[in-house]
Amino acid sequence: MATLLETGRTHSCHALRREHVGSRVVLFGWVHRRRDHGGRIFVDLRDREGITQVAFGPDLDATAHATAEGLRSEFCIGVAGTVVDRGDNENTNMATGAIEVEVDALEIFSTSETPPFSIADDERLETNENVRLRYRYLDLRRPSFQKNFAVRAKLSYITRRTMVDAGFYELETPYMVKYTPGGARNFLVPSRLHPGSFYALAESPQIYKQLFMVSGFDKYFQITRCFRDEDLRNDRQPEFTQIDVELSFATPQRVFEPMERLMTNLWQEILGVELKAPFLRLTWDEAMGRFGSDKPDMRFGLELRDATEASRDCGFRVFEAAPCVKGLCIPPNEAAGLGRNQLDKLTDFVKKRENGGAKGLAWVRIKDDGSWEAPFAKNVAAPAQAAITAALGGTPGSLMLFIADEWKTVHTVLGTLRLHLRDRLELLKDNPEPWRFLWVTDFPLFERSEKGQWVSSHHPFTSPRPEHLESLTSDPGKVRAQAYDLVLNGNEIGGGSIRIHRSDVQARVFEALGLTDEEARAKFGFLLEAFRYGPPPHGGIALGVDRIAMLLCGADSLRDVIAFPKTQRGQDLLTGCPTPADEPQLDELYIRHRPLPKADGGTDGGTDEGASGD
Ligand code: AMO
Ligand code: AMP
Repeated sequence: MATLLETGRTHSCHALRREHVGSRVVLFGWVHRRRDHGGRIFVDLRDREGITQVAFGPDLDATAHATAEGLRSEFCIGVAGTVVDRGDNENTNMATGAIEVEVDALEIFSTSETPPFSIADDERLETNENVRLRYRYLDLRRPSFQKNFAVRAKLSYITRRTMVDAGFYELETPYMVKYTPGGARNFLVPSRLHPGSFYALAESPQIYKQLFMVSGFDKYFQITRCFRDEDLRNDRQPEFTQIDVELSFATPQRVFEPMERLMTNLWQEILGVELKAPFLRLTWDEAMGRFGSDKPDMRFGLELRDATEASRDCGFRVFEAAPCVKGLCIPPNEAAGLGRNQLDKLTDFVKKRENGGAKGLAWVRIKDDGSWEAPFAKNVAAPAQAAITAALGGTPGSLMLFIADEWKTVHTVLGTLRLHLRDRLELLKDNPEPWRFLWVTDFPLFERSEKGQWVSSHHPFTSPRPEHLESLTSDPGKVRAQAYDLVLNGNEIGGGSIRIHRSDVQARVFEALGLTDEEARAKFGFLLEAFRYGPPPHGGIALGVDRIAMLLCGADSLRDVIAFPKTQRGQDLLTGCPTPADEPQLDELYIRHRPLPKADGGTDGGTDEGASGD
């Protein structure tokens, strides 16, 4: 007689419904739960699609029932039997809850040791994440993870279909590439054949995709891995996946269109949500000015308002002395919940360095007659109070929160405070539009490094806006780039730009970055050379697949959508890497040890730092 394995399964553990009653079926899966009710043994059988209750009894099949007594959690089994109606015992919490399978044949494919944590109880927080990462293959068996990876697989498929339909070639680029300093910190790979020389792992396919344009491939995309030796957070991994895109004869609009189509298809087919395209657009200046962020969460208001002018000679020294005074105005309903105690907490919050490091938080409550209740109210005469209130759009009962400082501090702090208040005041509670996509455009071409030098905000191949070419060397801080980010609910899910394709413009950008001709040639000579042979105007973008998957799944960490993620300290706890190399390996590479820095405790602790942006 054929074994169950040979017969093959007839259905998944998610498939059976009342209409199947009477059918004979074969199911394969894992023992999710097992309950012994005297005469009957019930097993919840689980596969990647779902769960079906199967029943064993001496009356159904004595051998199967006897074997079923030995079943334990996570045994891998096959069963054959008949679908019966559960009638009044229907379990409405289960898709298959109307039926069960009365088993007449059981095959144990393999037994399981008691798992280090329960897979059936999806209360994930109970188990230390390090233990779950150590046994990742078991953690991945959980229904919630199985769902996340089904979404991720669908995301890849829809991406390929959408991009191919839009005329893009899927092409590959090398992972082992030339090391070019600047940008993200690279992982290095020693070359055995060229002792003392190293490849870098590609931080992105940027240069190669531009070379594809020179090669005339016109439209390219790739779902590719990128490697960056960065400090990790909940929304960053050292290896992550991009949907990388480049097209010739590009304008920002021609980049946005296929990306909007892709997002629309993903949200439609995965969540059944209809997105409205074109997406909203804000320039970087506007996004920063109104929301204090280059990736604003557009699901709620609470915009920044400028009180610099109104504060000029207001009488309050803190406001008068600052180059920039801006604030948030919390409407009466929400303001009522914020007492003195909370205001002190908010003041502590804005002073923290990681929140932007303000010197203080000036709060003003507006009384019924429009006058102020504030620690410094007596310093500000009535007309100035009225002018500042008007600048913030305050009304009786509302609470105004001000930061007075340098432009950058004011905006960073208020942007962070705005998000803090979103959560604190539950501003998303009755949110009618849960998905707010946004293009942020016209980023500054350069930003100041910590050492005070001009560095590229995006990368050095990003094209300035043509009308700003004149300011490249005279006023680099003013120059805006043809660069854009795709933002969703406060997350940067993609970024790209129109590239420089003229060598004279590229030379001027390198000059503004303080690169000599020689340095530029040493770093990017091959690209500059390629641009001597008729490069098309081009541009593109890369989307963060892991972040998109995280948002589609409603997860709050990238680790929930990456099958084998690294911890915050860059370790894979399952395999235990990174590991030291042994002497013969190192000898072959002509690499010698330096004494190691003092060890700091071995295993990885910090995996659960709160989510934060970059
Ligand atoms: P960028 O560096 O902005 O652009 O990356 C594009 C998108 O990739 C995602 N991302 C990450 N996701 C997880 N972990 C990380 N460490 C990480 N770093 C980035 C983000 C980001 O928006 N070559 C350019 C693109 C271009 O100009 O076409 C690039 O890589 O969602
Ligand atoms: P002071 O004049 O320093 O006593 O501050 C008066 C109020 O202004 C206090 O509530 C401070 O928290 C607040 N404050 C101080 N410095 C700033 C600043 N740079 N921006 C906003 N508020 C401030």
